[in-house]
Amino acid sequence: MSAEFRIQVAPEVVAAVNGEKLPAPAVETRGLDAWYGDFQSLRKVDFSAAKGRVTAIIGPSGCGKSTLLRALNRMNDLVPGYRTSGEMILEGSPAPTDPAGVIALRRRMGMLFQRPNPFPMSVFDNVAYGLRLERRWKKHDLDEPVERALTRAGLWEEVKDRLSRSALGLSGGQQQRLCLARSLAVDPQVILMDEPTSALDPIATLRVEELMREFRDEVTIIIVTHNMQQAARVSDVTAFMMMGAGRAGELVEINSTIDLFNRPSDRRTEDYITGRFG
Ligand SMILES: Nc1ncnc2c1ncn2[C@@H]1O[C@H](COP(=O)(O)OP(=O)(O)OP(=O)(O)O)[C@@H](O)[C@H]1O
Ligand SMILES: [Mg+2]
Repeated sequence: MSAEFRIQVAPEVVAAVNGEKLPAPAVETRGLDAWYGDFQSLRKVDFSAAKGRVTAIIGPSGCGKSTLLRALNRMNDLVPGYRTSGEMILEGSPAPTDPAGVIALRRRMGMLFQRPNPFPMSVFDNVAYGLRLERRWKKHDLDEPVERALTRAGLWEEVKDRLSRSALGLSGGQQQRLCLARSLAVDPQVILMDEPTSALDPIATLRVEELMREFRDEVTIIIVTHNMQQAARVSDVTAFMMMGAGRAGELVEINSTIDLFNRPSDRRTEDYITGRFG
């Protein structure tokens, strides 16, 4: 790798991906610190996720990837002893910090976990869940939005004849797409995915990856993955995190996925992606 190929793109700078300008960020953090009790798990993280694009977060185990995701939708606030400082910006404005604002923010950010977590209720009720929290619906008015969400999640054909059966009877891959439909039903601005395919077989994984590409422009996706091939397949931008001093997670580099993998600008990124570390 010769020096002239190294390019440095600061997170706040609009990066070019395939010659296309990245949209403005849907979510940004500036100088984000996070602690669990006395342990600092994130240090000065400047992260950003362009609107309607897929941003992958990679890095060794324990470097704070899940912490960063859960900081974005304020889920970590529920962990005793957790505290955070720094800025979080949603579509250019400071993120709300008041209780009602935080609840609204969580609603705008869907989340998929490593293990699909459908609720122990019917397929239909899983998808309708968030819609029912928002307001009262007349009996059949939910049919249309539920079908639309299941269609977007690529699951409608498989479940249309079993909508009233328990979601727990679906396969793992179907359950993960159901969780995706449940998120999509409430029109989230952002979907946070924490290793969403690590419990799925290769075919179910490809299905979820295809869907992620289909949502391009509609939803902002931030995906944590241990699989660098997956990051390269699905994301427009990749962030590499690593433990720094005191094991606090730091964001080493964030760049277009093509550049991060082909022309990493930081030695630590290069060592990680070439397998010399982690
Ligand atoms: N609830 C918690 N209480 C205390 N420490 C925590 C908690 N959750 C995470 N940590 C610590 O914070 C650090 C970052 O953890 P995190 O789960 O964010 O890492 P990660 O990058 O997602 O790792 P992995 O790839 O293994 O999922 C780790 O040292 C972890 O032990
Ligand atoms: Mg994790």
